Amino acid sequence: MSAVATPRFVPGDITAPGIIDLAIGYPDLSVFPAELIDLQALAAADSRTRAFSYGPPKGSPTLTEALFATLLRDEPRLGSTLLTNGSIEAIDLVLRALSTRGDVLLSEDPCFPALVGTAELAGLRVVGVRADHHGIDPDALEATIDGVRLAGHQIAGLYTMPSASNPTGARLCLPRRHMVAALASSKDVLVIEDDAYRAVNLGGLVHPTLHSLNPDKVLHLRSLSKVLCPGFRLAIAIGPDDVVEAMMRLKPVGGTTPLGSELLAHILSRLDFDQHLRLLQDVYSRRRDMAIGAVRTHLPDATFTEPSGGFFLWVRLPDGTDPDTLYARAASLGVSYLPEGMFTVEPTDGRHIRLSFSYEPPDRILEGIRLLGLAAETARIGGHAVGA
Ligand SMILES: Cc1ncc(COP(=O)(O)O)c(C=O)c1O
Repeated sequence: MSAVATPRFVPGDITAPGIIDLAIGYPDLSVFPAELIDLQALAAADSRTRAFSYGPPKGSPTLTEALFATLLRDEPRLGSTLLTNGSIEAIDLVLRALSTRGDVLLSEDPCFPALVGTAELAGLRVVGVRADHHGIDPDALEATIDGVRLAGHQIAGLYTMPSASNPTGARLCLPRRHMVAALASSKDVLVIEDDAYRAVNLGGLVHPTLHSLNPDKVLHLRSLSKVLCPGFRLAIAIGPDDVVEAMMRLKPVGGTTPLGSELLAHILSRLDFDQHLRLLQDVYSRRRDMAIGAVRTHLPDATFTEPSGGFFLWVRLPDGTDPDTLYARAASLGVSYLPEGMFTVEPTDGRHIRLSFSYEPPDRILEGIRLLGLAAETARIGGHAVGA
């Protein structure tokens, strides 16, 4: 297993200037329609109170309605909703609301690094469930649930990213969706469905959400961070009434960013949402295809499955590449990425890397992957350092 010195995940902490950053999972902020921001509209009498005062505990009804008219228009409106400070806050709330310290949280593996950190802060132990390019494996899920319970542990829930995994870009296929939704009921496990990348669909069929298949056992999270921009820190949670109620009780009073919510509702009311989705899909599909072409050229022995959505390529390094050496040599050439150890819950051989194609402009992505190819040539076991 790799002993790469794992970088810390610190959102908002932009890496060193000059480094080509294929590590960071931020969106391309140029796709955010900043020209639609209209502060004068917020000062108008009808939205002044909602925008400038404390808000209701569930969050702005205006924004909730605007979301059901746009981002969530295909989602059945079942159960209750809660606006949160990003989906990370929703995960934190649900874990603290529904578990006791020492419980186990199941997660598809590999998984989003902030999930593990958030679960650990809630005193939970994360247990990984195998996932492949069709998403989480329902047989592995069933066996893991049984094994954890047999060992005498309570299960707080299952975390999964069915539309596009961070880091692999895998989409949960339809038959597995039905199986996971059925297991949630038969095994009595709450599913936390993090659909942050649902709008960043890079091709293929869109499947019904787990929430639509089993609204009684699924908490659906939809972040605005990748669709519009993370600066709003806004997401919506939709789920069973008792789950959402328990989450709401843990939220400090005052609502979730009333001013930002009104502003966002305003933007959504003026935005041609279909056109915006096409723009997102076009920008990120082109970046994905470009990154794939560069990996094929500069890392010809590496393997990967084309991501169906999201911002990342999950690349398996060829036999004989030393991941620690590659990481250090890439850094010395001025390119960063994230090593496998950031994402895996259960032990692995550490031979994957995550390359982000969302944040850097196209020419820097190409240059970053070219430099990575150079670093990889010398990171073969027995290779020589570039410039050394
Ligand atoms: C799978 C996944 N969920 C959630 C988030 C963050 O969402 P938010 O900004 O709404 O907290 C990210 C961001 O990288 C992510 O990759």
